[in-house]
Amino acid sequence: MPTVITIASGKGGVGKSSLAANFALRLQKTSGRTLLVDSDLLMANSHILLDLKPEFDLIDVLQARCTLREAIALVDGGLSVLAGRTGASVAVDKVKDPLQGVLSQLRGPKGAFDYIVVDAPAGASQDLINTLANSDRVVIVLLAQATSFVDAYALIKNCYMERGITQYSVLLNMVKTEAQAIAVFENFSSTVKAFLPVNLTYTGHVEHCPEIHACSRKCVAIVRMGGKSEQIKNFDAILSQIQRAPHNALLLDPTPRT
Ligand SMILES: Nc1ncnc2c1ncn2[C@@H]1O[C@H](COP(=O)(O)OP(=O)(O)OP(=O)(O)O)[C@@H](O)[C@H]1O
Ligand SMILES: [Mg+2]
Repeated sequence: MPTVITIASGKGGVGKSSLAANFALRLQKTSGRTLLVDSDLLMANSHILLDLKPEFDLIDVLQARCTLREAIALVDGGLSVLAGRTGASVAVDKVKDPLQGVLSQLRGPKGAFDYIVVDAPAGASQDLINTLANSDRVVIVLLAQATSFVDAYALIKNCYMERGITQYSVLLNMVKTEAQAIAVFENFSSTVKAFLPVNLTYTGHVEHCPEIHACSRKCVAIVRMGGKSEQIKNFDAILSQIQRAPHNALLLDPTPRT
């Protein structure tokens, strides 16, 4: 059975797609067969960051234009990618629970992967909450900004109320120092725990790094660039913290906790 790691945030633009692509490349390199799934149906970015032009994507699978296997593309180094689509018609939005069938197929007996990294869309939609309830590891990307706090809190609250999700790994992105990251995490964690019976685990930080930004602009994941050994070590350390953090039993019961 693969371990499903979903990278979410509530707020948009916090670095989910950049982190998901880099994490997936590192897992493929160091840990086992890995699939990156872009679950942002309308504004997908993963294939752009990996400079990939897939023949088929997740929408083709959902609309039965190809099989799941046909839609999975390979990038250098053996990483598999199930791309979303950029500029898809809003009609696709009406597909109910788009990722559930795909995730169950990937988890099934014929599943070919050890790890599935899901790049989630921003927001707290029901589809996203269902995807998080089907994930072994829920990773929340947080910035040292009030708007990021509020949106991450809203996502966690909805995940708990709707599906009883209690375990979250929290990763601070675009911070200045480790001390700042830990201080922001402590503040966020104590605020969330004052209102919700959930557990947040600090799993590391990524500094604000012009090279990461430049790599995204050039459509290259930073771990594919040579000579970035400190960032690579940091991504590996974060992945190992995420895998060691307490995780959710899969919560397939759709009963809301009200
Ligand atoms: N650690 C970092 N340092 C500097 N820039 C970063 C860092 N992480 C991400 N970025 C930049 O932040 C921007 C947003 O990143 P990204 O698209 O990955 O965010 P996102 O959370 O996936 O956005 P969306 O919610 O729109 O899907 C990009 O320009 C990216 O290069
Ligand atoms: Mg994104």
